[in-house]
Amino acid sequence: MSLDTADPHPVTLILLGPPGAGKGTQARMLEQKHGLVQLSTGDLLRGAVAARTAAGLAAQEAMDRGELVSDRIVLDILTDRLNQPDTRHGVILDGFPRTEAQAEALDRLLEARGRRIDAAISLKVDDEAMVERVSGRFTCASCGEGYHDSFKQPARFGICDVCEGTAFKRRADDNAETVRTRLSAYHAETAPLIDYYAARGALTEIPAMGEIGEIAAALDALIERLGEAQVSA
Ligand code: AP5
Repeated sequence: MSLDTADPHPVTLILLGPPGAGKGTQARMLEQKHGLVQLSTGDLLRGAVAARTAAGLAAQEAMDRGELVSDRIVLDILTDRLNQPDTRHGVILDGFPRTEAQAEALDRLLEARGRRIDAAISLKVDDEAMVERVSGRFTCASCGEGYHDSFKQPARFGICDVCEGTAFKRRADDNAETVRTRLSAYHAETAPLIDYYAARGALTEIPAMGEIGEIAAALDALIERLGEAQVSA
């Protein structure tokens, strides 16, 4: 069984994990399979930087250094996105919340909309492997599909599997030095949220060092269980 996304209780999933854990990869797969909307604060911030909005200009320096952007900027940008109608049927929060203040603000945002967190999913990985994962990452410039030099090349060289685009790009913050700063920020500010959600009985831990398909299957099984719990509630 899959989640009924027309259900009056819209699903809210959180993906927690350090840079390279596979949050974006898995969120995109969940979006395609289950009709949930991926809300990536990283993507929203990169969009703001590219559009040269005031928020984007204020965020850029911290992002280039691999540090966290201020809670105020991130919350404004996330709230605007959450107010858009396509999020009504369910969302996967990818890279948010990242601090305890963001987690508390999210509780308030959801409560005001009559929603709650269904599961906070922690992707468990080894830090050292993340440096290689992130440094080898590239994406389709047209549709954003993610690839990797070693782990996930397009089926036809130089052609995106999804949209057949032929231009690809790499992120400015995907170099080994910045990745280490991002890993430190994760352990200092975001990892404590694992206990925050565990204390509320909302945490699910998923080992995420295996193959992409294996991890996707574990997430599908979780969605199945959530769907069954909704039906029996
Ligand atoms: P953000 O864009 O969120 O980056 P991140 O958290 O560092 O995460 P990544 O996108 O690097 O990794 P991912 O887990 O999505 O991995 P992916 O699936 O791509 O944030 C960027 C910056 O924005 C932050 O540093 C901060 O400045 C700011 N920011 C964002 N949100 C914020 C917030 N809430 N508060 C404050 N600041 C914020 O996978 C990586 C690669 O590995 C890919 O090539 C993929 O193909 C490959 N791969 C994935 N899974 C596997 C696997 N199982 N095996 C082998 N390869 C795999």
